[in-house]
Amino acid sequence: MLDIFHVILILLTQYVYEAASECQLNINSENFKEGQLSSEKIGRFTSSSLPTKCQISLQGYPNEKISVKFTHFNLYVPDNKNVTKRCTEVDNLSADVRVGSRLSRIDEWCGKRTPPNLMSSSNLLQLEYNTKSSKAIRESTNDDIGFRLEYKFHTDWNMGTMKAKVDKRKECRFSFNSSEHTNGKLWSANYPGLYPRNMYCEYIFHGRNDQVVHIHFEYFDIEGFNQCDETTQSDYILFSNYQTHDRTNRRFCGKTAPKGPILSESNYFRMIFSTNDIFDATGFYAHYQFITQEKSQISRVKLTISTSCRRFSFSSFLLLFLYVILLL
Ligand SMILES: *[C@@H]1O[C@H](CO)[C@@H](O)[C@H](O)[C@H]1NC(C)=O
Ligand SMILES: *[C@@H]1O[C@H](CO)[C@@H](O)[C@H](O)[C@H]1NC(C)=O
Ligand SMILES: *[C@@H]1O[C@H](CO)[C@@H](O)[C@H](O)[C@H]1NC(C)=O
Repeated sequence: MLDIFHVILILLTQYVYEAASECQLNINSENFKEGQLSSEKIGRFTSSSLPTKCQISLQGYPNEKISVKFTHFNLYVPDNKNVTKRCTEVDNLSADVRVGSRLSRIDEWCGKRTPPNLMSSSNLLQLEYNTKSSKAIRESTNDDIGFRLEYKFHTDWNMGTMKAKVDKRKECRFSFNSSEHTNGKLWSANYPGLYPRNMYCEYIFHGRNDQVVHIHFEYFDIEGFNQCDETTQSDYILFSNYQTHDRTNRRFCGKTAPKGPILSESNYFRMIFSTNDIFDATGFYAHYQFITQEKSQISRVKLTISTSCRRFSFSSFLLLFLYVILLL
């Protein structure tokens, strides 16, 4: 919680920055790791009638990520405008995150379409509040025009409630050990908000020798299509029974969750969630359960790629051939 002293300090920093540049607000994480912000507080000194472009730049330390959550969102829309499709020619808010060396647009929002929770995987997140309406018009309505948000700088993925062990040596690795929990839940970073870009997360399952793990998806929304491969620039989920990279396993993406539970072949299982630097979705929510092998003979979801049937038929042909030779 912010005490009054901190609030005053934040306001002071805001004034300093705003005085320096007309409508630019720079927030860094040097003193406070979280705070609140309201559209009323920005652009204070800008002329009241002209359209303005207010930039809010949230900049953390190199190892920090940034989360933004909107608690109120109602941008001004003139009566004669319909903003169901686009935000051009009306007040709007856009968000960009830094991926690599450039800024990448997440989306734009207007009217009452509240942005989902946002999270950057880098240390820079930028918002831009574009107003076409005049300040007088915005203030004259009783509709609480504007937005309010909460922001937070953090070094982890903010997934403490997932009850997984975090491997600090890796950028994003969570392990689930059946000796600690025989079942539980797992989800994508920032769920149910948009998952961050350029992220490679591993969810590792360690069971007892006689156990396998069973993963069931309750929610699934991974931006991508077809086989989710590089040519489609898709984000994807992939399962592997091995610690090494497993190219043959099929990738999952899109809005349909894998049918039925996903089962591991042995007591080790690895799930990879990989996102690229364009487009995002709201991720996944699943539960897992370690079960002893006898009980696990329920239908196994085929993990191998369906288009690799040529290879499949060739190897089955080979097997059949060997079988025939053995019989002779
Ligand atoms: C806005 O446009 C959409 C389709 O583009 C339409 O369904 C909707 O009824 C329109 N709303 C108003 C208030 O005109
Ligand atoms: C946002 O609003 C500004 C000012 O009205 C406009 O110039 C810009 O095109 C809008 N952005 C989008 C993405 O529609
Ligand atoms: C799982 O937890 C048990 C008990 O805490 C521990 O002995 C074992 O080494 C852990 N396994 C892995 C793979 O971390």
